[in-house]
Amino acid sequence: MLNKENVTEVLKDVIYFPKGDNIVALNMVENLMVNENGVRFDLIVEHADDPKNDILVNAAKRTLTGVFGEIHIDIKVKEEETALAKVKHIIAVASGKGGVGKSTVAANLAIALARANQRVGLVDADIYGPSVPMMFGVEDEQPACFEKDGKTVMLPIEKFGIKLLSIGFFVDTDRPLIWRGPMATSALNQLMNDTLWGELDWLVVDMPPGTGDIQLTMAQQYKVTGAVIVTTPQRVAFADVLRAAMMFREEALQIPIYGLVENMAYFTPSDMPEKKYYIFGKETGQQFADQLNVPLLGQIPITEQIAECGDNGTPLALNADSPVTKAFDEIAHSILNSRF
Ligand SMILES: Nc1ncnc2c1ncn2[C@@H]1O[C@H](COP(=O)(O)OP(=O)(O)O)[C@@H](O)[C@H]1O
Ligand SMILES: [Mg+2]
Repeated sequence: MLNKENVTEVLKDVIYFPKGDNIVALNMVENLMVNENGVRFDLIVEHADDPKNDILVNAAKRTLTGVFGEIHIDIKVKEEETALAKVKHIIAVASGKGGVGKSTVAANLAIALARANQRVGLVDADIYGPSVPMMFGVEDEQPACFEKDGKTVMLPIEKFGIKLLSIGFFVDTDRPLIWRGPMATSALNQLMNDTLWGELDWLVVDMPPGTGDIQLTMAQQYKVTGAVIVTTPQRVAFADVLRAAMMFREEALQIPIYGLVENMAYFTPSDMPEKKYYIFGKETGQQFADQLNVPLLGQIPITEQIAECGDNGTPLALNADSPVTKAFDEIAHSILNSRF
């Protein structure tokens, strides 16, 4: 008899081979409707443009007609709504080395983008050394977790209008995290995928240093719109900058680079805010950018204030009077006006 129960039972014979199970068990059948005219349902797939979708639709049709005869069958292929479905751009803030100011740049850039009326999220992908909770003064908060469609999802913490998520909310950051690569990667995937990000214009990703598993996962599994590379002006830093840039440019990844941010470009004493001491040379950042053939998005001074603000949970770019804020606003505008 043609009814919903029997149709569901028959659809259990349709196997989706890449995942080794049937389409009912894999939750790929939605909005099933059965009446005397026939059967219709939505087939939920990961990628709408996957050629395997047609094969699966045909297999389902054949299986149904095999049991119920020549009935009317209407199957709509629909792409799965992921946590990131409504996130327009993902921007990776990266460098080859630790301590150059990636987290500082990521946090202040997020603030500057929000000031430009963008909806912004910031995810701390530095699983081994998370710093977003401290930089935003939310170390003691815990994201709410609840069940949705049979899995646990997290709600990011909101501060200064930015949606934040970090492994630091779930682990004791005083102790170093000694995770194997696959565990770190899976933690990153949870932060990205099991979170109700909602509608965002930008998801800024604060990357760990180097070119390891996390970087590869980020670049391969997510649609990263572009990368911002952070450097300091020392000549020895260039080898690391180059390595980070090369990774994004690899043929298999081809992630565009928005440009370079030269952090600690010059020193400005707090009692002489108009002074700029270019300790490592004035042109170094521009030379690095030229060698990579990318724009120099901005130069950020070394100031006590940046470090203090990072430590006490109020990123300096919140302070409208600081010249540092202006630099971050310019970086944000270059990114907003870029062609990708
Ligand atoms: N421009 C700057 N002026 C002063 N201190 C800075 C500056 N940029 C970063 N710092 C400080 O340097 C340390 C490392 O910066 P961080 O952003 O955590 O680097 P990374 O994420 O690359 O490891 C932090 O204590 C931070 O406050
Ligand atoms: Mg960092």
